[in-house]
Amino acid sequence: MTRRNVRAIVSTGLAVICLGVWTSAWAAAPSEKYKTLCASCHGDSGNGQGPAAEALKAVAKVRDFTDGKYMNARTDAQLTKVIKEGGMTSGFSPLMAAFGSQLSDKEIKEILGFIRSVAVPKYQKK
Ligand code: HEC
Repeated sequence: MTRRNVRAIVSTGLAVICLGVWTSAWAAAPSEKYKTLCASCHGDSGNGQGPAAEALKAVAKVRDFTDGKYMNARTDAQLTKVIKEGGMTSGFSPLMAAFGSQLSDKEIKEILGFIRSVAVPKYQKK
């Protein structure tokens, strides 16, 4: 292998890495609050497969936020209500606890933004 080839390979590799870092910065990242309070069940990526989800499987299916078919039909107001008041007042499992006392409206909005960003197909704001 010539020196020139080596240099070409190394710089291509570097370019790919830089592009990877750059594009991942654009993907929505969950907030710290989401990671602490929600990810154990809903998963870091929002796919409903956090470490606690498996244990809860027999009693409740943790919501998969990437399921756009279901999630996109839910309004911001409905989802905000569940986050604030817990599942029970909306007819869902009490395992989805109320977080209204632990999260400010701004934090809930940020979390909702993350939840919306992971839906497939993509969520279109109504
Ligand atoms: C102990 C596990 C657990 C934790 C922690 C948890 N959830 Fe949930 N969540 C659930 C379960 C289970 C459901 C589904 C309830 C059902 O279908 O009856 C749910 C459902 C939801 C829904 C769907 C509501 C709808 O309209 O369908 C949203 C939104 C949600 N959770 C947000 C959050 C947020 C935000 C946090 C963190 C602040 C959080 N959850 C933390 C278990 C959890």
